[in-house]
Formats: sequence, C-alpha cells, structure tokens
Amino acid sequence: MNSVTVRVPAKVNLQLAVGPLRGDGYHDLVNVFHAVSLFDEVTAVAETGMSVRVEGESADQVPEDDDNLAIRAAVALARHAGRSYGVSLAIRKAIPVAGGMAGGSADAAAALVACNELWGLGLPLEDLMEIAADIGSDVPFALLGGTAVGTGRGERLTPLEAAGPFHWVFALADGGLSTAKVYAECDRIRAEEGLPVAEPRAAGALLAALRDGDAKALGAELTNDLQSAALRLRPSLAATLEAGRGHGALGALVSGSGPTCAFLAASAAHAGELAGALRDAGVAREVLTAHGPVPGPAVV
Ligand code: C5P
Repeated sequence: MNSVTVRVPAKVNLQLAVGPLRGDGYHDLVNVFHAVSLFDEVTAVAETGMSVRVEGESADQVPEDDDNLAIRAAVALARHAGRSYGVSLAIRKAIPVAGGMAGGSADAAAALVACNELWGLGLPLEDLMEIAADIGSDVPFALLGGTAVGTGRGERLTPLEAAGPFHWVFALADGGLSTAKVYAECDRIRAEEGLPVAEPRAAGALLAALRDGDAKALGAELTNDLQSAALRLRPSLAATLEAGRGHGALGALVSGSGPTCAFLAASAAHAGELAGALRDAGVAREVLTAHGPVPGPAVV
C-alpha cells in the first residue's frame, strides 16, 4: 500500500470546566468532547523525507513545516517504531483553523492512523493514544471520536453514552484565537476577581441529557469556562451568541477556546433555519450545520 486517506471529525465541547493553573502551565479540566460531522481529510503517501501540503478552508494559516501537528505526529510515530520512515501528507481542511474545534488535533490524529496503516505498523489504539497525548491535549479525543469526558489536561478519556443525533450550527469567525492566549486571559480574569478556583467537576444533568438524547436539557447545560476569556479577546462574539439565542437555539456557547460559536438546534430542519437566520444577521464569516456524535478517524 503506498497511499492511505483518513477522514477525521471536528469536536465541540459540551462542558469545559477549567481548574486552577498547574505547576506545568496546564489546567486540570473536565472536558466533555463531542465529535461532529465536519471533516478534514489527510492522505499519506510513502516518500523518503517528511513533508506536508495543506489546502481548503483557511489553508494559508496552517504551517507547512515541522510545526504542523500532522507532521509532528508522523515524526513521533516513526520514532516510536524506531525506524526512519518517510511520508508526504496532504491535508484537505474543512474544520476552521485555530477555531476551537480541534482541527489541528484532528489532523494529527488522522496522520497517526494513516501512517500506522501506510507503514504497516499495526499499533493498537492505546499506543497511538499515548503518542497523541504528547502532541497535544485534544489529540487523544480526536483518535477516539464519539462523546467522551476528558480529565487531567483533557487527555485521560472515558467514553460517554450519548443517544443523539444532536443537531448543531457553527458560526465561523474571521481569523483564529490562540488556545494558550485564551487560557492566559482566563487566568487573568480569575486573578482580577480574586475568588478561589474550584476543582472541575462533570455536570450530572449534562451527562443525563446526553444519555437520554434530550436536546432541550442538553442546551440548557452547555457551559464553557473559557467563554468569558474568548469574549474579552473577541468582543464581537457576544453579538453572534445573542443572535443564535434570539433565533431559538436551545443552547449557545463558544466552542473550546473559540472563536467558533456553537448552537444546539432541536432538529435538522431547525438547524437549517437557524443557520439561515445567522447568515442573514451577518454575525459570522461563514455558517455551517453538522450533527453529532460521529465516530473518530476512519480510513476511506
Ligand atoms: O496541549 P496543547 O498543546 O493543545 O495546549 C495548548 C495550550 O493550551 C497549552 O500550552 C496551555 O497554555 C493551554 N492548555 C491549558 N490546560 C489544558 C490544555 C491546554 O492551559 N488542559
């Protein structure tokens, strides 16, 4: 086999509870990840060296050098296997870049799956999960898909039962937000408030709503501790969230570290109407619909 293509979904966070800043610069989280039907595609072709090309949605904002998360994943996998493999990666992006939907993490996960196949390594998922955690906190979930709660940095995962399908609308913003900067802004806001920061805990009502497939209850339970920080860095997102709420979204929140805003709809038809209303309101660069949960990366 000299070419493998893997399709990998984006994620939205249903609950993102951020604990105190740790000594290592990370935060302990309770992070309820939910994979949605917005996909990047990564094609791996056998080559002597390592290279990457990116096309599609905001491709010009993705590095095509050793900083690219997919290349870092391929390099880490070759190192794990103790061999000097090469690969040429082609990434077709649909997931917004630096949008809070784990697009870079998705590409890294897809590269791990594609190279594992291309190089005939046959490594089990648990091995890929370990390599993934070293690349980024969201990469292990990107390998798993579905719905799962992440603790620690977000890398320690427990799959959750989720009935679904849940119907989503995503409002994409101009330009991205740096995850590290949003966490730093969150720490700054907390320092200003001077209140103690609680240990993050999973919301029982949210887990019940997921299990029951109850979109109305889920909408009421969506929370993101990074939202106030993302809004401080990008004040225009307040109007985007407000427009979605005003047009009947069951829930509205910033996805992860933003700036993408996520809206939960009651049905596929409602998601279509809501997307149309958001486009008409002119509060987003682009508006997309998707459903979740969907399975993780798959060879196509
Ligand atoms: O793990 P990853 O490289 O994706 O994280 C990017 C940045 O997000 C980290 O450097 C850190 O500033 C912040 N982060 C955090 N706590 C987490 C995950 C990420 O502070 N649990």
